[in-house]
Amino acid sequence: MSTLSERPQHAVVGLPLPHESAALHVTGEALYTDDLVARTRDVLHAWPVQAPHAHARVTVLRVAPAYDVPGVVRVLTADDVPGVNDAGVKHDEPLFPSEVMFHGHAVCWVLGETQEAARLGAAAVEVDYEPLPALVTVREAIEAGSFQGAQRHLARGDADAALASAAHVFEGELEFAGQEHFYLETHASLALVDEAGQVFVQSSTQHPSETQEIVAHVLGLASHEVTVQCLRMGGGFGGKEMQPHGYAAIAALGARLTGRPVRLRLNRTQDITMSGKRHGFHARWRAGFDADGHIVALDATLTSDGGWSLDLSEPVMARAMCHIDNAYWIPDIRVDGRIAKTNKTSQTAFRGFGGPQGMMVIEDILGRCAPMLGVDPLELRRRNFYRSDHTTPYGQPVRHAERLEACWSQVLATGDVERRRTEIARFNAAHPHVKRGLAMTPVKFGISFNLTAFNQAGALVHVYKDGSVLINHGGTEMGQGLHTKMIQVAATTLGVPMSRVRLAPTRTDKVPNTSATAASSGADLNGAAIKNACEQILERLARVAAGRLGVSVPDVRFVDGAVRGLSARDERLSWEEVVHDAYMQRVQLWAAGFYRTEGLHWDSEAMYGEPFKYFAYGVAAAEVEVDGFTGAYTLRRVDIVHDVGDSLSPLVDIGQIEGGFVQGAGWLTLEDLRWDESDGPHRGRLATQSASTYKLPSFSEMPEVFHVTLLEKAHEDGAVYGSKAVGEPPLMLAFSVREALRQAAAAFGPAGTSVQLASPATPEAVYWALDRARAGHAAARVDVDGVPADREAPVPAVQGRG
Ligand code: MTE
Ligand code: MOS
Repeated sequence: MSTLSERPQHAVVGLPLPHESAALHVTGEALYTDDLVARTRDVLHAWPVQAPHAHARVTVLRVAPAYDVPGVVRVLTADDVPGVNDAGVKHDEPLFPSEVMFHGHAVCWVLGETQEAARLGAAAVEVDYEPLPALVTVREAIEAGSFQGAQRHLARGDADAALASAAHVFEGELEFAGQEHFYLETHASLALVDEAGQVFVQSSTQHPSETQEIVAHVLGLASHEVTVQCLRMGGGFGGKEMQPHGYAAIAALGARLTGRPVRLRLNRTQDITMSGKRHGFHARWRAGFDADGHIVALDATLTSDGGWSLDLSEPVMARAMCHIDNAYWIPDIRVDGRIAKTNKTSQTAFRGFGGPQGMMVIEDILGRCAPMLGVDPLELRRRNFYRSDHTTPYGQPVRHAERLEACWSQVLATGDVERRRTEIARFNAAHPHVKRGLAMTPVKFGISFNLTAFNQAGALVHVYKDGSVLINHGGTEMGQGLHTKMIQVAATTLGVPMSRVRLAPTRTDKVPNTSATAASSGADLNGAAIKNACEQILERLARVAAGRLGVSVPDVRFVDGAVRGLSARDERLSWEEVVHDAYMQRVQLWAAGFYRTEGLHWDSEAMYGEPFKYFAYGVAAAEVEVDGFTGAYTLRRVDIVHDVGDSLSPLVDIGQIEGGFVQGAGWLTLEDLRWDESDGPHRGRLATQSASTYKLPSFSEMPEVFHVTLLEKAHEDGAVYGSKAVGEPPLMLAFSVREALRQAAAAFGPAGTSVQLASPATPEAVYWALDRARAGHAAARVDVDGVPADREAPVPAVQGRG
């Protein structure tokens, strides 16, 4: 066992504790970035001037009328930028654009004494636009050949040859929607300058170091002149990984120019119309199976809808391509990935980071092909699972593949799946207008950033003279419970009670050059860095204690606030005594910790290597009931077994699994981003701009029965205290809901019906699917030569995204 993963006997990690800020969250006392405004004097408020075109040139920008509005202090335009007029790292995101690239693009910003003054000022700014042709859908972009960034190819073996000799070959096309993050806290920044013009930005950012870099390059400053702090976020979900930078830069620019604090907080409509979302994808595929239903080949072309600029679209595509296999062994495979450039918001990271989009393709293939192969979908999936001697298409051994089987059989057993399936068959036979379906789907998700360099983290741990401990690390808290886990890690390593440890907010002047809190690796990376810092301190303290206890240094133990030798009967000193002695002996009581994940390598051009430290596994079973008249459905029961290694914090992890699952179910079944695709005057406008038109999961969509279990005996060697990442993987367990809906819809048709289901599978989409099944649609039957369904049976136009 590695020392990193080894867990001491009296560990604070592993205890089921509430989130460290739970009480503050529910009482409303927790401070978020925008709460600081009320505590800050002389704050100016920023408001954007948003363009009413999907694509247009700005021909004239008249800001003078804004200054006639009482309370307007300053209008910020491109002319004010002392450094680089760019909000991103790819230099394709002008902060103040001269060409509007999407409907709602901010062309300039107005600062006012009040938000109302800024709003009225923005309304007074006069902009002349020369409208340009706009590409709004991914299909339009494909037809126009409008792509951006690198196009990647991932291949193993000879997919064409394998397809040519496969017993069954199917092909199809699939287009599926993106997703709005809908974090409760919208993007927010508060920027201040000190007497030397140095900038301090409070920002709701998952990536403070990059926010710092962008603010610095916009202002023409060096990084050491800019400090970014993030107290916590009211949800990030990937939406605050890359997108906060521009807003922080606007606030910082305003603060530099006026000398006053500037607050920028988007209201919901601004946030939803300006910030990027999950990438919707288009996929075209050919899949081959042998006579026993084993997948023998896959050939797929993935096209993501990147929106107007690259942002994180390239790594999102890489992760999609690395997850198209999900949990299945596909011997011969070719995947092409490309990023469409459209006149939409710049699509970005969203929980799963392309993984869900990749997996969607294979899960859709299996769901559609199972009836055509005449194999039960449960059996088809299980039969194709990876085994431990397999490697992924990009060359990574699938370590612990047996955990797929372990999760699967545990869900089968504890979810009483076989009995319920018999019951469902009986129910369906007796109910012509209501049908039920039960589906199981697995998840295998790679943990680490694909780009090896990002897999590093730092921490700063202070032990004060009184024995109290203050920890700082590079990760940000967005509700996922990272800080809770980090306090547990520090308490475990130092052998002190949790009450001795406090955590200070994330800031770039404490721990520099951090990676985004993303890729679910926050706890892995920062936990290991904190552990490293704590161990440095312990090493020094052990020397102090050994002297007093008369034992040798390696025999000193730190347990629950006491320091003693190996035998529990030996003399004990209190933690505080040892700390005090150390101080008096002039021993350094604080340390900077560092961690880099070992054993990773990735060739992003060849799409080959071992980019992931390990895989997280999980299995879900979902049962739904669908109404044949309306397509309305309920989620009756969900059973999940998920692998989090040895959990650092089981309550937090179960919350992550529940939340991730429901967020995935929202993406796949409810949340329906609608853009104006017409040629009318509002072309490119997001039609679903608020919670009234964009349906999020709420209590009423929670499964009636919801069982989440952590896989036992799941120690992960080489990760901090044997744990595994949990933030993103459970989202993809929600494919079980989509597949259950597909099966319920199929039950309206004759046996062996293959159902195409639009995504999101809204009640309307489910209705069209079951209606086609009910009509015994010819294309839904098995074809002798296995030729597919899709070509002859386009999804009804009304759904738009079959
Ligand atoms: N959970 C909550 N409550 N809020 C969030 O914003 N973000 C998710 C996940 N869980 C998120 C969340 C995403 S996208 C990621 S990458 C991880 O948390 C990031 O945190 P971690 O690395 O500490 O798991
Ligand atoms: Mo998460 S999408 O990696 O922020």
